[in-house]
Amino acid sequence: MTAELIDGKAFAAGLRARVAAQVPTFQAAASRAPGLAVVLVGEDPASAVYVRSKGKQTREAGMESFEHRLPADTGQDDLLALVEQLNADPAVDGILVQLPLPRHIDEQEVLLRISPDKDVDGFHPVNAGRLATGMEGFVPCTPLGCLMLLQDRLGDLSGLDAVVIGRSNIVGKPMAALLTQASCTVTVAHSRTRDLASHVARADIVVAAVGRANFVQGDWIKPGATVIDVGINRVEGKLVGDVDFASAMRVAGAVTPVPGGVGPMTIACLLRNTLVAAHRNAG
Ligand code: GUN
Repeated sequence: MTAELIDGKAFAAGLRARVAAQVPTFQAAASRAPGLAVVLVGEDPASAVYVRSKGKQTREAGMESFEHRLPADTGQDDLLALVEQLNADPAVDGILVQLPLPRHIDEQEVLLRISPDKDVDGFHPVNAGRLATGMEGFVPCTPLGCLMLLQDRLGDLSGLDAVVIGRSNIVGKPMAALLTQASCTVTVAHSRTRDLASHVARADIVVAAVGRANFVQGDWIKPGATVIDVGINRVEGKLVGDVDFASAMRVAGAVTPVPGGVGPMTIACLLRNTLVAAHRNAG
């Protein structure tokens, strides 16, 4: 058996097109385009690539991109002052501070300062709390993209067994909350989990977000399961996921490739969240 490939790249292109198609309606009503501010501190090469990509796709969707590049030695107070300025700017609907931040800056303090109404990353505790309690708020982009791919393939997820491997605030925890909301039976596994293979073996849905190359083995996976690989690891110059792709393809029903699976969904969901923020902030 060979699993189906889940084409996140194509799905993301469709989502971006749907968002772009709605921008003119907002613009006509508000007399301005939706605006996304992205803040990058320092010169981390991977972050610089993401930020460039975010700016390009924001403009392609017809939105305004405000990019703020600050030197690596920017003080925390200066960064917080910029966040406050963006919070107060009516042209800015969404604010994203690219992570990781340099070590001398307290990441939590910065995320706390972003207005929850402009928090298109969904990292503010107010939005994390809204997600956990089923209230409307902003949902982190990567798990939101994973949920969309799962629902596109499986339809109603209720009653399915899901294993989320990884418990980060950015992916694992919000992913588990989204799957719980979708009425899955959710197991959150992590580095201390005993006998991970036995948990994976029961799962109809596997979301791997551990940051370890080729970690999840095909022979752990239940035949026919849907496998979402959030990992982006560089091995000998090549990008690979957290799932051992070749062995997973022999057992699973469907697998997201790396690259071209979950990755493109993140920015597409960011644009979607920005449009939602614009409507809420203008309305
Ligand atoms: N760094 C890696 N992924 C992300 C993301 O989704 N948002 C932000 N702000 N930083 C990141």
